[in-house]
Formats: sequence, structure tokens, C-alpha cells
Amino acid sequence: MLQRKMKKIFPGVYRINGKLATKNSVRGFRVYGERLIEKKGQEYRFWDPFRSKLGAGILKGLKKLPIKPNYNVLYLGSSTGTTASHVADITRNSVYCIEFSKRMMRELIPVSGVKTNMIPILGDAIHPLEYCHNINLVDVIYQDVAQPNQAEILIKNTEMFAPRYAMFVVKSRSINAVKSPKKVFEEEIDKLKEKFKILQIVDLRPYDKDHVLVNLEVF
Ligand SMILES: C[S@@+](CC[C@H](N)C(=O)[O-])C[C@H]1O[C@@H](n2cnc3c(N)ncnc32)[C@H](O)[C@@H]1O
Repeated sequence: MLQRKMKKIFPGVYRINGKLATKNSVRGFRVYGERLIEKKGQEYRFWDPFRSKLGAGILKGLKKLPIKPNYNVLYLGSSTGTTASHVADITRNSVYCIEFSKRMMRELIPVSGVKTNMIPILGDAIHPLEYCHNINLVDVIYQDVAQPNQAEILIKNTEMFAPRYAMFVVKSRSINAVKSPKKVFEEEIDKLKEKFKILQIVDLRPYDKDHVLVNLEVF
């Protein structure tokens, strides 16, 4: 029988034969056509770093994953749930999925009907007051919204939900398409320095160009 090499990278996150994977919280369920494999009576879902910036960040050397098995996560910009579903495999607790596109929400709702710790919330991340009543305590915010005011969105949500950590995807072209991405990243991350300790900045190339993933601890 084929022996698969398996290494735990973070709690709930593995490398199997070199490929990233999470333990599938719902056996047999796929979210975006990813491959499932069985190992020692447990099913794992491969995690495509070209489809997920968190997956890319982990493969690019993220040192600390502030999404832990007992953490509640506020996920801003969940889209149809590709990355959020892996987050929902890692934590047994709630993943509050904020998405403002009704079209994306239509695809997210059936996913959250099966992965029941994903809570879909139709809302605009710039207005946390409008969805805060649906959300309990949050340990970490994961934000991936393609908006010109990305730092402002993160600050507003941090003030509202008081998490310990944040993971912030910066897309340079959504902020300024003509300035050099390096300059845009520097300026955007600078806006966070009063509220957060910058733990690590991960360049997501070659999986995603013009993006960095910033790991933050709230002061
Ligand atoms: C790059 S996609 C997210 C991909 C997703 N994080 C993943 O890895 O599977 C960005 C998403 O953010 C949503 N979005 C953009 N601005 C938003 C806002 N202000 N509030 C909520 N969602 C927003 C978009 O509709 C889109 O689905």
C-alpha cells in the first residue's frame, strides 16, 4: 500500500506528500473540487494555495497561525467559502463569514449548511455595527476584502470586536493600481502601527501577485 508522508505544521494543518491539507470536519464533503484523502481512519482535504491566500501564506513560511482549534474567527470577505471552509476545519468554534455580495452568499449558504460552524452573514465589513448583534466573542479577525480602505475596515472591526490577533491580506492594486506595490504595502501597514504589533509580513508570490499577508497582534 502507498505510504503517505505526513507532517503537522500547525494544529489542524498538515503537509501530506508535500501538499497542504486540513482534517475534513465533514467526511466526504468538498467545497471547491479539492481532493480528499484518507489516512489512519481520518479524512483530509487538500488546500490549494493558488485558490487561498491563507494557504499560500502558510506555504510561504508563516511562523505563527493565530487561528487555533478553540478560537472564534471573524472572517471578512469570505466569498464562496474556499478559505473559510479550511478555517472551519481548523477551529471547532465559530467562523463568522461576512460577505457583501449576494451572488457569493448564494454559494456560501449551502456550504455553511453542511459545515455548521460557518455562520454566513450578509453585510458590509465597513459597517460592523450592522452585524455585531449576530456575533459572539472573537479571538481573531481574518480579512481579505479587495477595497481601497482595507486598513480602515480592519481597524473598525478590531475596535468593535476586540480580538487578540488579526490576519490581514493587502491587495495593492485595490488601493492604488499605479503606485509600486511595495510602497502601497508600506503605507497601508503603517496605518496599523498604533493598534497592532506587526508579527510578520508574508509576500504571497508566486501563488498570488500584488498581495501580502500580514500577521498582527492587537496591543
Ligand atoms: C478576494 S475575495 C475573498 C476570497 C476568500 N477570502 C477566499 O480566500 O476564499 C474578496 C471578497 O470580499 C468581498 N468584499 C469586498 N468588499 C467587501 C466589504 N466591504 N464587505 C464584505 N465583503 C466584501 C467580495 O465580494 C469578495 O467576495
